Amino acid sequence: MQNRPTDSRRIRATYARRMNGYNRPSNVATNQRRIVGTMNCQSVYASAPTAIRLADGRNGYTQKQIIQCITIKIYNGMNKPIYVAFSTQKGGAGKTTITVLVASYLHYVKGYNVAVVDCDFPQYSIHDMRRRDMDMTMKDDHYKAMAYELFKRLAKKAYPIVCSKPGDAPDTAARLTASGASLDFVFFDLPGTINNPSVVKTIAAMDYIFCPIAADRVVMTSSMQFATVINEHMISTGKTNIKGLHLLWNMVDGREKTELYAAYEKICAELALPILKTFLPDSKRFRKEAATERKAVFRSTLFPADKSLVRGSNLDALVDEILTIIKQ
Ligand SMILES: Nc1ncnc2c1ncn2[C@@H]1O[C@H](COP(=O)(O)OP(=O)(O)OP(=O)(O)O)[C@@H](O)[C@H]1O
Ligand SMILES: [Mg+2]
Repeated sequence: MQNRPTDSRRIRATYARRMNGYNRPSNVATNQRRIVGTMNCQSVYASAPTAIRLADGRNGYTQKQIIQCITIKIYNGMNKPIYVAFSTQKGGAGKTTITVLVASYLHYVKGYNVAVVDCDFPQYSIHDMRRRDMDMTMKDDHYKAMAYELFKRLAKKAYPIVCSKPGDAPDTAARLTASGASLDFVFFDLPGTINNPSVVKTIAAMDYIFCPIAADRVVMTSSMQFATVINEHMISTGKTNIKGLHLLWNMVDGREKTELYAAYEKICAELALPILKTFLPDSKRFRKEAATERKAVFRSTLFPADKSLVRGSNLDALVDEILTIIKQ
């Protein structure tokens, strides 16, 4: 998303130089890897085409091969949204809730274009939430007016929520992008199991993973195992797309964190697992959806969290911290 114009200028310049014969064919593979690195493309684009014997007897690449590769990379780099998952193997840690809150805040408040791929088979809880939100909006004039005002002001639609099998999720997201949707972020709500190869494949396709944690021994043990596996087998090896994994305190008891949190933070630091500065408090508002009492809405796929409820929730600070990490 960021640096797109610079990247595309650089790529066009490389392409022009190559077409003018300034680069020898043997440099093509190296340049491709550099371009791939610059644009953070997925591994599927990282392999160079097979060299063939050219008319002059040397091994090299045809112009067609070069154009084809560069065209794919320009297209892919220009359009590839950032893939984000709030993921952990611990059930009930807040994955779905945080995904919806952050996706809605970015789409409706911050002006980004977002999509959600719901891989939480068989519940498909975000897809289900959208259906509840739609039903409530259609049958209640208060929410209907709110939706009318919001979408008129933003001049865009609600973000798409697409159901997918976990293993098909990257393809589902790629299809969304290829269909012409101009997306900045795709959020993936993944099931909480990492011993399933199809989920591992999808986790490896993420750009950023945020792992919700709670100061509870069972939750911490499970989350640290999950995060360490990703760190050691996916990030450190450099073989995946993942650029960062951060833990995120959720359901924090009271307004401030206690010594218990400090003790866990020390263990995480020893394991080289970074924790976001922002934490989410334990608060009933995280369950507040559109309801017939027409109270302020917090968790919704159609509306941004109500300002009165954002205050004290740290949602705004969380989104800002996530954006800072992604833009680094
Ligand atoms: N900060 C919070 N304060 C209070 N309740 C919260 C908070 N975050 C999440 N919850 C609540 O915790 C419950 C579990 O959250 P959620 O469904 O988002 O977890 P999950 O990790 O997606 O669960 P699953 O593993 O079943 O998919 C929900 O009722 C949600 O409203
Ligand atoms: Mg869930």
